[in-house]
Amino acid sequence: MNKQFLIVANWKMQLSYNQAVEFCTQHFQELDRSLPDHVSVVLCPSFEALYPIGQLLAKTSLKLGAQTCSNYKMGAYTGEVCAESLAQLGCTHCIIGHSERRSNFGETSNDIAIKTTRLLEQGIRPIICIGETLKEHQQGLTIHALHDQLEPVLQKLAAHPTPAQGIIIAYEPVWAIGTGQSATPSYLNKIFTWLDQLYSTILPMTPCTLLYGGSVNEQTAADIARIDKVQGLLLGGASLDFQKFKNIVSLVSK
Ligand code: PGA
Repeated sequence: MNKQFLIVANWKMQLSYNQAVEFCTQHFQELDRSLPDHVSVVLCPSFEALYPIGQLLAKTSLKLGAQTCSNYKMGAYTGEVCAESLAQLGCTHCIIGHSERRSNFGETSNDIAIKTTRLLEQGIRPIICIGETLKEHQQGLTIHALHDQLEPVLQKLAAHPTPAQGIIIAYEPVWAIGTGQSATPSYLNKIFTWLDQLYSTILPMTPCTLLYGGSVNEQTAADIARIDKVQGLLLGGASLDFQKFKNIVSLVSK
């Protein structure tokens, strides 16, 4: 596979500070050495581990990402972390609108549009997550749900100058996240064709990378990676087991 390919590891809050730093110290130089030029890897630990992991990755080609950021630029917002600080810590990417943030912390499409702008102002590439619930999927409302989540964000971006670093959209069906149930290649083919058309209609000049996430494993990664419009993967569980992670990187690099 010769296309440029991006693999994002979302460690969620699955590792403590010590565990995240140890995991990175033990393994990631080895991964860096085996990475072909056309494959990029972004590691997204939780906030507290960004600084030490950024230091460990500094001499590698691996990139650093955060898992969310504040809507606000700066100010009296207890517990929040602003995009400017993420940039200062060396983050080149940031996941936003993950379904766990939408369902557990009430993030709306408007919040996600604001966070996208905050990140782009700081030169960080937003990884905008969208995905339908099981109920929406079963009722045939997938496209409707994805449109509702994505269109307001893209329209807001269209009102601003084109960001040079571009954006990333990660399609993650909620019913596939952490469930062991992955979407089939033929289903994904339809969704990614639709996604490609939507963003190129609203943001024709903005570079955009499309990722798939949701229970990707060593058995499914290669077939998903071969889908025409899929340009990368967002891995949760599989990124926490180094051997599995490395195998997936190697499978999609071929
Ligand atoms: P999963 O998580 O690979 O464990 O399903 C993906 C995600 O939530 O980003």
